[in-house]
Amino acid sequence: MEINDLKIPKSDITLPKKVKIFDTTLRDGEQAPGVALTTDEKIQIAQKLDNLGINTIEYGFPAVSEGERKSAKLINDLGLNANICGLARVLKNDIDALLDCDLSYMHTFIGTSPLHRDFKLKMSKEEIVDKASSAIEYAKDHGITVEFSAEDSTRTEFDYLVDVYKAVEDAGADLINVPDTVGVLVPTTSRKLISNLKNELSLPISVHFHNDFGLAVANSLVAIESGAEQAHVTVNGIGERGGNASLEELVVTLKVAYGLDLDIDTTQLYNLSDFVSRVTGIKMPPNKPIVGENAFAHESGIHVHGVLENAATYEPIAPELVGHTRKIALGKHTGANALKAKLTEYDIKMDEEQFCTVYDQVKGLGDKGKSITDADLKAIAVTVLGKAKEEAVKLIGLSVSSGSGKTVSPTATVKLMINGEEKETSSIGVGPVDAALNAIQILVKGTTNIQLEEYHIEAITGGTDALAEVFVITSDEEDNKATGRATREDVIMASVDAVLNSINKILMIKEAK
Ligand code: KIV
Ligand code: ZN
Repeated sequence: MEINDLKIPKSDITLPKKVKIFDTTLRDGEQAPGVALTTDEKIQIAQKLDNLGINTIEYGFPAVSEGERKSAKLINDLGLNANICGLARVLKNDIDALLDCDLSYMHTFIGTSPLHRDFKLKMSKEEIVDKASSAIEYAKDHGITVEFSAEDSTRTEFDYLVDVYKAVEDAGADLINVPDTVGVLVPTTSRKLISNLKNELSLPISVHFHNDFGLAVANSLVAIESGAEQAHVTVNGIGERGGNASLEELVVTLKVAYGLDLDIDTTQLYNLSDFVSRVTGIKMPPNKPIVGENAFAHESGIHVHGVLENAATYEPIAPELVGHTRKIALGKHTGANALKAKLTEYDIKMDEEQFCTVYDQVKGLGDKGKSITDADLKAIAVTVLGKAKEEAVKLIGLSVSSGSGKTVSPTATVKLMINGEEKETSSIGVGPVDAALNAIQILVKGTTNIQLEEYHIEAITGGTDALAEVFVITSDEEDNKATGRATREDVIMASVDAVLNSINKILMIKEAK
């Protein structure tokens, strides 16, 4: 094996010829607390999953609502390449609901573990086998593909689990799915369970692993090594509790480390992850593998130096493989190489002395725990280059009055010096801060049209005289953006200073262009 080759040598493992990906973002993913997708969002996600090359899309659960049945019909009518699957309990009503939507792929399930038998279903082992078998026979009489899950299979007695799966094989099921419903497997037990089931069963085996211990992807990989021919996944790994095996992590690992050709266009993964994150409201942590904002970001001098010479030094895969982008972040670990690369990216040229000043300022801010955005860097560089004049906009005076009720509106009067000229105005707002910021916006209008994009306030110390730190991002009509920060005991003054700080930066950036 070459030192650099990530692929597991083919001689070390026997993999199934074809591994299929079954995506359940729209069903198990939607079961994540707080997530409810509209029909239109479901359609858009299904289309994106199909463009990616997913084999089966579990779109939802037809029996639960009219909306779910409407979604089923609309997604089915798209004529996608992927199989469109619906979930059903082993109940005639659930199966009829699925058939009414003209779905031709059913994922049906019943709990098999002692916990499910005794506390949830209150059914004997035999009753469960009978129910599962009759439901499958009924569905097969209607000519559809049936995938069967023994819910909580990983906490079910092995011999009984085999009895259940053999019975559903006899009843005509097409695929056996093994759900690790509460994510209790570890790689060793995943290997043992799937290898042993492979020895007992004839149908292809699929796995559906939850991520309660953070092992869903690892367990799915081991299951595939042990003969599983299909894995259930969700985009961003969303799902009940700790979620499910993540689509992007599993697919990329199978491609890169196992050399498996899944016919999946991995270059769409970042875009899909971002879309799902926006519509579900479940934000990915920056360090989320493959799709997190930091997945291809580098800050420390040593790493950035390596990456600029050859990105593979600190990247296992190229960001382009998953449609992501490399980012050189600036902060206290920033090295000279990273800073030079950033300045080149913005076409900012300076001599060595000026560069050292910018470098010291970036490091200084980093040491104070601040992260330096691209806008901050541009503003620092422009100031050092001497292109920036004295602050263009300065505060001369501010008075505010607050109040409540219909007759008294919070009002602010602001006096600014703008490019040497004094200007004053008053404005109202929902509170004194809003009123002051509105007044500033009006006053600078002749110079630049400012929009407040973000406003964050944090109390640094305790008590009524607490120091407040205000952080803002403003933008102008040319989409120049700049951050502004100020720390004061007075919240209104801190807000005004932060906004003026960012307005001055925008003016500097404009001037440098
Ligand atoms: O995790 C699980 O057991 C499930 C079932 C519906 C198969 O999602
Ligand atoms: Zn599940």
